[in-house]
Amino acid sequence: MQYSSKMDSSASLYLVTLLSLCCMLFRFSNVAAVQYGSSQPTALFVFGASLLDVGNNNYLFTLKRCDFPHYGIDFPGGKPTGRCSNGKNIPDFLADKMGVPSPKSYMSLNRSMEPGKFLEGVNFASSSAGILNTTHKGLCIPLDTQIDYYSFVVEDLEESMGIVWTKCFISNSIFIVNIGSNDVQVYDGTGISNFVSLLISTLEGQLERLYNLGARKFAFMGLEPVGCWPALRAVNKSTGNCNSEVNQISVRYNEQAAVLLHEMQSKHADINYSFFNTYGIFTQYINDPQTYGFGNVTAACCGMGFLRAEIACNPLASYCSNRTEYLFWDGWHQTEATAKLLVNTAFDGSPPDVFPVNVRQLSGIGLQAEINAHVTPL
Ligand SMILES: *[C@@H]1O[C@H](CO)[C@@H](O)[C@H](O)[C@H]1NC(C)=O
Ligand SMILES: *[C@@H]1O[C@H](CO)[C@@H](O)[C@H](O)[C@H]1NC(C)=O
Ligand SMILES: *[C@@H]1O[C@H](CO)[C@@H](O)[C@H](O)[C@H]1NC(C)=O
Ligand SMILES: *[C@@H]1O[C@H](CO)[C@@H](O)[C@H](O)[C@H]1NC(C)=O
Ligand SMILES: *[C@@H]1O[C@H](CO)[C@@H](O)[C@H](O)[C@H]1NC(C)=O
Ligand SMILES: *[C@@H]1O[C@H](CO)[C@@H](O)[C@H](O)[C@H]1NC(C)=O
Repeated sequence: MQYSSKMDSSASLYLVTLLSLCCMLFRFSNVAAVQYGSSQPTALFVFGASLLDVGNNNYLFTLKRCDFPHYGIDFPGGKPTGRCSNGKNIPDFLADKMGVPSPKSYMSLNRSMEPGKFLEGVNFASSSAGILNTTHKGLCIPLDTQIDYYSFVVEDLEESMGIVWTKCFISNSIFIVNIGSNDVQVYDGTGISNFVSLLISTLEGQLERLYNLGARKFAFMGLEPVGCWPALRAVNKSTGNCNSEVNQISVRYNEQAAVLLHEMQSKHADINYSFFNTYGIFTQYINDPQTYGFGNVTAACCGMGFLRAEIACNPLASYCSNRTEYLFWDGWHQTEATAKLLVNTAFDGSPPDVFPVNVRQLSGIGLQAEINAHVTPL
Protein backbone atom coordinates (compact mmCIF):
# COMPACT_ATOMS: atom_id res chain seq x y z
CA MET A 1 0.00 0.00 0.00
CA GLN A 2 1.56 3.19 -1.25
CA TYR A 3 -0.03 5.37 1.42
CA SER A 4 0.91 3.65 4.65
CA SER A 5 4.44 5.03 4.95
CA LYS A 6 3.47 8.69 4.67
CA MET A 7 -0.06 8.87 5.97
CA ASP A 8 -0.86 10.72 9.18
CA SER A 9 -2.63 8.82 11.92
CA SER A 10 -6.17 10.12 11.35
CA ALA A 11 -5.98 9.35 7.64
CA SER A 12 -4.63 5.89 8.30
CA LEU A 13 -7.29 5.20 10.92
CA TYR A 14 -9.86 6.26 8.37
CA LEU A 15 -8.35 3.93 5.79
CA VAL A 16 -8.33 1.00 8.20
CA THR A 17 -12.01 1.58 8.98
CA LEU A 18 -12.75 1.88 5.32
CA LEU A 19 -10.91 -1.26 4.35
CA SER A 20 -12.51 -3.25 7.13
CA LEU A 21 -15.88 -2.18 5.77
CA CYS A 22 -14.82 -3.30 2.33
CA CYS A 23 -13.24 -6.46 3.58
CA MET A 24 -16.51 -7.90 4.66
CA LEU A 25 -17.66 -7.89 1.08
CA PHE A 26 -14.92 -10.34 0.34
CA ARG A 27 -14.99 -12.44 3.52
CA PHE A 28 -18.58 -13.40 3.41
CA SER A 29 -18.49 -16.36 5.72
CA ASN A 30 -17.12 -14.30 8.60
CA VAL A 31 -19.80 -13.94 11.29
CA ALA A 32 -18.37 -10.73 12.72
CA ALA A 33 -18.42 -9.19 9.29
CA VAL A 34 -22.05 -10.08 8.82
CA GLN A 35 -22.99 -8.40 12.08
CA TYR A 36 -21.14 -5.37 10.86
CA GLY A 37 -23.38 -5.33 7.81
CA SER A 38 -25.61 -2.47 8.94
CA SER A 39 -22.65 -0.13 8.55
CA GLN A 40 -22.47 3.38 7.16
CA PRO A 41 -21.69 4.46 3.63
CA THR A 42 -18.04 5.16 2.95
CA ALA A 43 -18.12 8.69 1.52
CA LEU A 44 -20.09 11.37 -0.28
CA PHE A 45 -19.39 12.51 -3.84
CA VAL A 46 -21.11 15.72 -4.87
CA PHE A 47 -21.99 16.95 -8.38
CA GLY A 48 -23.98 19.97 -9.46
CA ALA A 49 -24.37 23.70 -9.04
CA SER A 50 -24.43 26.43 -6.43
CA LEU A 51 -26.73 24.79 -3.89
CA LEU A 52 -24.01 22.17 -3.40
CA ASP A 53 -20.80 24.14 -4.10
CA VAL A 54 -18.45 24.40 -1.10
CA GLY A 55 -15.84 26.54 -2.84
CA ASN A 56 -14.83 25.17 -6.25
CA ASN A 57 -15.62 28.50 -7.91
CA ASN A 58 -13.21 30.30 -5.55
CA TYR A 59 -10.49 28.90 -7.81
CA LEU A 60 -12.03 30.12 -11.07
CA PHE A 61 -11.82 33.48 -12.77
CA THR A 62 -15.53 34.18 -12.49
CA LEU A 63 -18.11 36.50 -11.00
CA LYS A 64 -20.29 33.47 -10.17
CA ARG A 65 -18.86 33.07 -6.70
CA CYS A 66 -19.84 33.40 -3.06
CA ASP A 67 -16.55 33.92 -1.24
CA PHE A 68 -17.10 37.44 0.05
CA PRO A 69 -19.25 39.00 2.82
CA HIS A 70 -22.04 38.56 3.78
CA TYR A 71 -21.82 34.92 2.67
CA GLY A 72 -20.91 32.63 5.55
CA ILE A 73 -21.97 34.98 8.38
CA ASP A 74 -23.57 32.04 10.19
CA PHE A 75 -20.91 29.50 9.21
CA PRO A 76 -18.62 28.38 12.07
CA GLY A 77 -16.06 31.20 12.22
CA GLY A 78 -18.39 33.59 10.42
CA LYS A 79 -16.23 33.68 7.30
CA PRO A 80 -17.17 33.25 3.63
CA THR A 81 -16.12 29.84 2.28
CA GLY A 82 -17.57 29.89 -1.22
CA ARG A 83 -20.85 28.36 -0.08
CA CYS A 84 -23.73 30.39 -1.55
CA SER A 85 -25.44 30.51 1.83
CA ASN A 86 -25.34 32.31 5.16
CA GLY A 87 -24.05 29.08 6.73
CA LYS A 88 -23.87 25.39 5.99
CA ASN A 89 -25.38 23.94 2.85
CA ILE A 90 -26.93 20.66 1.73
CA PRO A 91 -23.76 18.49 1.47
CA ASP A 92 -22.74 19.61 4.97
CA PHE A 93 -26.02 18.52 6.53
CA LEU A 94 -26.23 15.35 4.47
CA ALA A 95 -22.69 14.33 5.44
CA ASP A 96 -23.57 14.90 9.11
CA LYS A 97 -26.56 12.60 8.76
CA MET A 98 -24.49 9.94 6.99
CA GLY A 99 -21.74 10.10 9.60
CA VAL A 100 -19.06 11.02 7.06
CA PRO A 101 -17.06 14.24 6.61
CA SER A 102 -18.50 16.94 4.35
CA PRO A 103 -16.22 16.52 1.36
CA LYS A 104 -13.85 19.32 0.42
CA SER A 105 -13.92 21.01 -2.95
CA TYR A 106 -12.12 19.18 -5.75
CA MET A 107 -10.23 22.34 -6.66
CA SER A 108 -8.70 22.55 -3.18
CA LEU A 109 -7.97 18.81 -2.97
CA ASN A 110 -6.36 18.73 -6.39
CA ARG A 111 -3.78 21.23 -5.09
CA SER A 112 -3.30 19.50 -1.76
CA MET A 113 -0.36 17.16 -1.17
CA GLU A 114 -2.11 15.36 1.69
CA PRO A 115 -1.95 11.58 1.26
CA GLY A 116 -5.34 9.91 1.15
CA LYS A 117 -6.95 13.22 0.27
CA PHE A 118 -9.78 11.69 -1.77
CA LEU A 119 -10.75 9.12 0.88
CA GLU A 120 -13.21 11.50 2.51
CA GLY A 121 -15.16 12.00 -0.71
CA VAL A 122 -14.97 14.93 -3.08
CA ASN A 123 -17.24 17.86 -3.89
CA PHE A 124 -17.19 18.80 -7.59
CA ALA A 125 -20.22 21.14 -7.59
CA SER A 126 -19.71 24.52 -9.20
CA SER A 127 -21.93 27.59 -8.88
CA SER A 128 -23.85 28.44 -12.07
CA ALA A 129 -22.97 25.10 -13.70
CA GLY A 130 -25.34 23.26 -15.98
CA ILE A 131 -26.00 20.01 -17.77
CA LEU A 132 -25.10 21.79 -20.98
CA ASN A 133 -21.56 23.02 -21.56
CA THR A 134 -23.01 26.19 -23.01
CA THR A 135 -24.77 27.18 -19.75
CA HIS A 136 -22.66 29.99 -18.25
CA LYS A 137 -19.78 28.86 -20.45
CA GLY A 138 -16.39 29.88 -19.10
CA LEU A 139 -17.77 30.93 -15.71
CA CYS A 140 -18.11 27.54 -14.02
CA ILE A 141 -17.24 23.84 -14.18
CA PRO A 142 -19.99 22.21 -16.26
CA LEU A 143 -21.25 18.78 -15.24
CA ASP A 144 -19.32 17.02 -18.02
CA THR A 145 -16.07 18.52 -16.74
CA GLN A 146 -16.98 17.66 -13.14
CA ILE A 147 -17.22 14.03 -14.29
CA ASP A 148 -13.85 14.33 -16.09
CA TYR A 149 -12.37 15.44 -12.77
CA TYR A 150 -14.08 12.57 -10.99
CA SER A 151 -12.43 10.16 -13.44
CA PHE A 152 -9.02 11.56 -12.36
CA VAL A 153 -10.00 10.91 -8.75
CA VAL A 154 -10.93 7.30 -9.57
CA GLU A 155 -7.54 6.82 -11.27
CA ASP A 156 -5.79 8.28 -8.25
CA LEU A 157 -7.70 5.99 -5.87
CA GLU A 158 -6.95 2.96 -8.02
CA GLU A 159 -3.26 3.79 -8.02
CA SER A 160 -3.16 4.08 -4.26
CA MET A 161 -5.45 1.29 -3.07
CA GLY A 162 -5.98 -0.91 -6.08
CA ILE A 163 -8.96 -1.58 -8.31
CA VAL A 164 -10.86 -3.90 -5.97
CA TRP A 165 -10.83 -1.62 -2.91
CA THR A 166 -11.63 1.39 -5.07
CA LYS A 167 -14.65 -0.34 -6.53
CA CYS A 168 -15.84 -1.27 -3.07
CA PHE A 169 -15.25 2.22 -1.70
CA ILE A 170 -17.07 3.93 -4.54
CA SER A 171 -20.00 1.54 -4.76
CA ASN A 172 -20.72 2.15 -1.07
CA SER A 173 -20.54 5.93 -1.45
CA ILE A 174 -23.50 8.23 -2.02
CA PHE A 175 -23.49 10.33 -5.19
CA ILE A 176 -25.57 13.45 -4.69
CA VAL A 177 -26.57 15.28 -7.86
CA ASN A 178 -28.46 18.57 -8.15
CA ILE A 179 -28.24 20.12 -11.59
CA GLY A 180 -30.48 21.82 -14.15
CA SER A 181 -31.58 25.04 -12.43
CA ASN A 182 -29.13 27.07 -14.49
CA ASP A 183 -30.09 25.33 -17.71
CA VAL A 184 -33.82 25.94 -17.30
CA GLN A 185 -33.12 29.67 -17.06
CA VAL A 186 -31.26 29.78 -20.36
CA TYR A 187 -34.17 28.20 -22.24
CA ASP A 188 -33.84 29.39 -25.81
CA GLY A 189 -37.55 29.45 -26.72
CA THR A 190 -37.31 26.58 -29.21
CA GLY A 191 -40.07 24.57 -27.54
CA ILE A 192 -40.18 23.34 -23.97
CA SER A 193 -40.49 19.66 -24.93
CA ASN A 194 -37.45 19.75 -27.18
CA PHE A 195 -35.44 21.64 -24.64
CA VAL A 196 -36.28 19.31 -21.75
CA SER A 197 -35.58 16.28 -23.96
CA LEU A 198 -32.14 17.69 -24.73
CA LEU A 199 -31.44 18.20 -21.01
CA ILE A 200 -32.61 14.71 -20.10
CA SER A 201 -30.76 12.89 -22.89
CA THR A 202 -27.58 14.76 -21.96
CA LEU A 203 -28.12 13.99 -18.28
CA GLU A 204 -28.61 10.33 -19.14
CA GLY A 205 -25.17 10.19 -20.76
CA GLN A 206 -23.68 11.90 -17.72
CA LEU A 207 -25.28 9.55 -15.17
CA GLU A 208 -24.23 6.57 -17.32
CA ARG A 209 -20.66 7.85 -17.22
CA LEU A 210 -20.83 8.01 -13.42
CA TYR A 211 -22.20 4.47 -13.38
CA ASN A 212 -19.38 3.28 -15.63
CA LEU A 213 -16.95 4.92 -13.20
CA GLY A 214 -18.38 2.90 -10.30
CA ALA A 215 -21.24 5.00 -8.88
CA ARG A 216 -24.12 2.84 -7.63
CA LYS A 217 -26.10 4.94 -5.16
CA PHE A 218 -27.58 8.18 -6.44
CA ALA A 219 -29.26 10.80 -4.27
CA PHE A 220 -30.83 12.92 -6.98
CA MET A 221 -32.30 16.25 -5.94
CA GLY A 222 -34.95 17.56 -8.30
CA LEU A 223 -35.34 21.26 -8.99
CA GLU A 224 -37.27 23.62 -6.77
CA PRO A 225 -39.73 26.04 -8.43
CA VAL A 226 -36.84 27.98 -9.96
CA GLY A 227 -39.25 30.66 -11.22
CA CYS A 228 -39.97 31.57 -7.57
CA TRP A 229 -36.39 32.52 -6.78
CA PRO A 230 -36.48 36.11 -5.47
CA ALA A 231 -34.29 37.27 -8.37
CA LEU A 232 -36.84 35.94 -10.86
CA ARG A 233 -39.81 37.32 -8.91
CA ALA A 234 -38.10 40.71 -8.78
CA VAL A 235 -38.16 40.90 -12.59
CA ASN A 236 -41.96 41.13 -12.32
CA LYS A 237 -41.86 44.46 -10.55
CA SER A 238 -45.57 45.07 -10.48
CA THR A 239 -46.55 41.79 -8.85
CA GLY A 240 -43.44 40.03 -7.57
CA ASN A 241 -45.01 36.85 -8.93
CA CYS A 242 -43.12 33.73 -9.87
CA ASN A 243 -41.99 33.22 -13.47
CA SER A 244 -44.50 30.61 -14.55
CA GLU A 245 -42.63 29.51 -17.67
CA VAL A 246 -39.46 28.70 -15.75
CA ASN A 247 -41.57 26.81 -13.21
CA GLN A 248 -43.24 24.86 -15.98
CA ILE A 249 -39.86 23.83 -17.42
CA SER A 250 -38.69 22.85 -13.92
CA VAL A 251 -41.73 20.60 -13.47
CA ARG A 252 -41.20 18.90 -16.84
CA TYR A 253 -37.52 18.41 -16.14
CA ASN A 254 -38.25 16.87 -12.72
CA GLU A 255 -40.84 14.48 -14.11
CA GLN A 256 -38.51 13.24 -16.81
CA ALA A 257 -35.48 13.04 -14.52
CA ALA A 258 -37.48 10.77 -12.18
CA VAL A 259 -38.39 8.54 -15.12
CA LEU A 260 -34.75 8.49 -16.23
CA LEU A 261 -33.56 7.26 -12.84
CA HIS A 262 -36.25 4.61 -12.76
CA GLU A 263 -35.19 3.42 -16.21
CA MET A 264 -31.54 3.38 -15.24
CA GLN A 265 -32.37 1.15 -12.30
CA SER A 266 -34.28 -1.21 -14.59
CA LYS A 267 -31.31 -1.32 -16.93
CA HIS A 268 -28.62 -1.75 -14.27
CA ALA A 269 -29.75 -4.12 -11.54
CA ASP A 270 -27.13 -2.83 -9.10
CA ILE A 271 -28.24 0.83 -9.03
CA ASN A 272 -30.23 2.28 -6.15
CA TYR A 273 -31.44 5.84 -5.92
CA SER A 274 -33.43 8.37 -3.95
CA PHE A 275 -35.26 11.04 -5.90
CA PHE A 276 -35.91 14.13 -3.84
CA ASN A 277 -39.07 16.04 -4.78
CA THR A 278 -37.63 19.47 -4.05
CA TYR A 279 -40.37 21.14 -6.09
CA GLY A 280 -43.19 19.73 -4.00
CA ILE A 281 -41.44 20.47 -0.72
CA PHE A 282 -40.65 24.06 -1.70
CA THR A 283 -44.24 24.56 -2.78
CA GLN A 284 -45.36 23.47 0.68
CA TYR A 285 -42.92 25.94 2.28
CA ILE A 286 -44.20 28.75 0.06
CA ASN A 287 -47.89 27.95 0.53
CA ASP A 288 -47.75 27.30 4.24
CA PRO A 289 -44.68 29.09 5.63
CA GLN A 290 -45.67 29.13 9.31
CA THR A 291 -45.91 25.36 9.49
CA TYR A 292 -42.25 25.14 8.57
CA GLY A 293 -41.06 28.07 10.69
CA PHE A 294 -40.68 30.57 7.86
CA GLY A 295 -41.77 34.21 8.11
CA ASN A 296 -40.68 35.27 4.63
CA VAL A 297 -40.64 32.98 1.59
CA THR A 298 -40.59 35.55 -1.22
CA ALA A 299 -37.73 37.94 -0.52
CA ALA A 300 -34.00 37.39 -0.24
CA CYS A 301 -32.42 37.96 3.15
CA CYS A 302 -29.35 39.61 1.62
CA GLY A 303 -29.34 41.92 -1.39
CA MET A 304 -30.62 45.26 -2.65
CA GLY A 305 -33.76 46.62 -4.28
CA PHE A 306 -37.19 45.04 -4.68
CA LEU A 307 -37.38 41.81 -2.62
CA ARG A 308 -33.66 42.44 -1.91
CA ALA A 309 -33.13 40.64 -5.18
CA GLU A 310 -32.50 43.24 -7.86
CA ILE A 311 -28.85 43.59 -6.90
CA ALA A 312 -27.10 40.50 -5.60
CA CYS A 313 -25.89 40.13 -2.03
CA ASN A 314 -22.60 42.00 -1.62
CA PRO A 315 -20.59 43.57 1.20
CA LEU A 316 -22.62 46.79 0.99
CA ALA A 317 -26.04 45.14 0.86
CA SER A 318 -28.37 44.95 3.83
CA TYR A 319 -29.40 41.60 5.23
CA CYS A 320 -32.22 40.41 7.45
CA SER A 321 -31.58 40.03 11.15
CA ASN A 322 -33.30 36.68 11.63
CA ARG A 323 -31.93 34.31 9.00
CA THR A 324 -33.80 31.30 10.29
CA GLU A 325 -37.13 32.74 9.18
CA TYR A 326 -36.11 33.29 5.53
CA LEU A 327 -36.45 30.61 2.87
CA PHE A 328 -33.94 32.41 0.67
CA TRP A 329 -30.58 33.80 1.65
CA ASP A 330 -29.96 35.70 -1.58
CA GLY A 331 -31.82 36.07 -4.87
CA TRP A 332 -30.96 32.53 -5.98
CA HIS A 333 -30.00 30.45 -2.97
CA GLN A 334 -31.51 28.99 0.16
CA THR A 335 -30.65 29.83 3.73
CA GLU A 336 -28.89 27.37 6.00
CA ALA A 337 -32.25 26.86 7.76
CA THR A 338 -33.83 25.74 4.47
CA ALA A 339 -30.94 23.40 3.63
CA LYS A 340 -31.28 21.76 7.02
CA LEU A 341 -35.02 21.19 6.64
CA LEU A 342 -34.58 19.80 3.12
CA VAL A 343 -31.92 17.34 4.24
CA ASN A 344 -34.06 16.16 7.16
CA THR A 345 -36.79 15.27 4.68
CA ALA A 346 -34.42 13.76 2.09
CA PHE A 347 -32.87 11.58 4.77
CA ASP A 348 -35.90 10.41 6.70
CA GLY A 349 -38.91 11.39 4.59
CA SER A 350 -41.26 9.18 2.62
CA PRO A 351 -43.00 9.27 -0.77
CA PRO A 352 -44.00 11.54 -2.48
CA ASP A 353 -41.34 13.77 -0.88
CA VAL A 354 -38.54 11.30 -1.48
CA PHE A 355 -38.83 8.05 -3.46
CA PRO A 356 -38.55 5.11 -3.99
CA VAL A 357 -36.38 5.09 -0.84
CA ASN A 358 -35.05 7.86 1.38
CA VAL A 359 -31.35 8.60 1.76
CA ARG A 360 -31.12 6.75 5.06
CA GLN A 361 -32.31 3.58 3.33
CA LEU A 362 -30.10 4.31 0.33
CA SER A 363 -27.07 4.57 2.59
CA GLY A 364 -27.38 1.05 3.95
CA ILE A 365 -29.02 -1.11 1.37
CA GLY A 366 -26.32 -1.67 -1.25
CA LEU A 367 -23.94 -3.13 1.25
CA GLN A 368 -26.64 -5.19 2.91
CA ALA A 369 -27.89 -6.52 -0.42
CA GLU A 370 -24.38 -7.45 -1.47
CA ILE A 371 -23.79 -9.26 1.79
CA ASN A 372 -27.12 -11.05 1.65
CA ALA A 373 -26.37 -12.18 -1.87
CA HIS A 374 -23.09 -13.80 -0.84
CA VAL A 375 -23.50 -14.92 2.73
CA THR A 376 -24.07 -18.60 3.31
CA PRO A 377 -26.83 -18.92 5.95
CA LEU A 378 -25.49 -20.26 9.23
C1 LIG B 1 -18.92 19.22 -23.29
O1 LIG B 1 -17.58 19.40 -23.69
C2 LIG B 1 -16.76 18.24 -23.62
C3 LIG B 1 -15.37 18.60 -24.09
O2 LIG B 1 -14.92 19.72 -23.42
C4 LIG B 1 -17.34 17.16 -24.49
O3 LIG B 1 -16.58 15.96 -24.33
C5 LIG B 1 -18.77 16.88 -24.10
O4 LIG B 1 -19.34 15.94 -24.96
C6 LIG B 1 -19.59 18.17 -24.12
N1 LIG B 1 -20.89 17.89 -23.58
C7 LIG B 1 -21.99 18.30 -24.13
C8 LIG B 1 -23.24 17.98 -23.38
O5 LIG B 1 -22.02 18.93 -25.17
C1 LIG C 1 -5.40 17.79 -10.92
O1 LIG C 1 -5.69 18.70 -11.97
C2 LIG C 1 -4.90 18.57 -13.12
C3 LIG C 1 -5.34 19.63 -14.11
O2 LIG C 1 -5.36 20.86 -13.51
C4 LIG C 1 -5.06 17.19 -13.73
O3 LIG C 1 -4.20 17.02 -14.84
C5 LIG C 1 -4.75 16.14 -12.69
O4 LIG C 1 -5.04 14.87 -13.23
C6 LIG C 1 -5.58 16.37 -11.46
N1 LIG C 1 -5.22 15.37 -10.46
C7 LIG C 1 -6.11 14.66 -9.83
C8 LIG C 1 -5.59 13.61 -8.93
O5 LIG C 1 -7.31 14.84 -9.93
C1 LIG D 1 -45.47 38.24 -14.06
O1 LIG D 1 -46.65 37.97 -13.33
C2 LIG D 1 -47.70 37.49 -14.15
C3 LIG D 1 -48.98 37.47 -13.32
O2 LIG D 1 -48.93 36.54 -12.30
C4 LIG D 1 -47.28 36.10 -14.65
O3 LIG D 1 -48.30 35.54 -15.43
C5 LIG D 1 -46.02 36.23 -15.48
O4 LIG D 1 -45.55 34.94 -15.80
C6 LIG D 1 -44.93 36.98 -14.74
N1 LIG D 1 -43.91 37.34 -15.71
C7 LIG D 1 -42.62 37.17 -15.47
C8 LIG D 1 -41.69 37.60 -16.53
O5 LIG D 1 -42.19 36.71 -14.44
C1 LIG E 1 -32.01 -1.54 -4.63
O1 LIG E 1 -31.78 -1.94 -5.95
C2 LIG E 1 -32.05 -3.31 -6.20
C3 LIG E 1 -31.67 -3.59 -7.61
O2 LIG E 1 -32.35 -2.77 -8.50
C4 LIG E 1 -33.50 -3.60 -5.95
O3 LIG E 1 -33.75 -4.97 -6.13
C5 LIG E 1 -33.84 -3.21 -4.54
O4 LIG E 1 -35.20 -3.38 -4.35
C6 LIG E 1 -33.45 -1.81 -4.28
N1 LIG E 1 -33.70 -1.53 -2.91
C7 LIG E 1 -34.56 -0.62 -2.54
C8 LIG E 1 -34.71 -0.47 -1.08
O5 LIG E 1 -35.15 0.08 -3.33
C1 LIG F 1 -40.49 39.81 3.02
O1 LIG F 1 -39.41 40.73 3.00
C2 LIG F 1 -39.54 41.74 1.99
C3 LIG F 1 -38.27 42.55 1.98
O2 LIG F 1 -38.00 43.07 3.22
C4 LIG F 1 -40.78 42.58 2.27
O3 LIG F 1 -40.93 43.52 1.25
C5 LIG F 1 -41.98 41.66 2.34
O4 LIG F 1 -43.12 42.40 2.71
C6 LIG F 1 -41.76 40.54 3.34
N1 LIG F 1 -42.86 39.61 3.29
C7 LIG F 1 -43.47 39.21 4.38
C8 LIG F 1 -44.58 38.24 4.21
O5 LIG F 1 -43.13 39.61 5.49
C1 LIG G 1 -36.35 34.00 14.31
O1 LIG G 1 -37.46 33.46 13.61
C2 LIG G 1 -37.88 32.20 14.08
C3 LIG G 1 -38.94 31.68 13.15
O2 LIG G 1 -39.95 32.62 12.95
C4 LIG G 1 -38.36 32.34 15.52
O3 LIG G 1 -38.74 31.09 16.01
C5 LIG G 1 -37.22 32.88 16.38
O4 LIG G 1 -37.68 33.13 17.68
C6 LIG G 1 -36.69 34.19 15.78
N1 LIG G 1 -35.48 34.56 16.49
C7 LIG G 1 -35.30 35.80 16.94
C8 LIG G 1 -34.01 36.07 17.62
O5 LIG G 1 -36.13 36.68 16.75
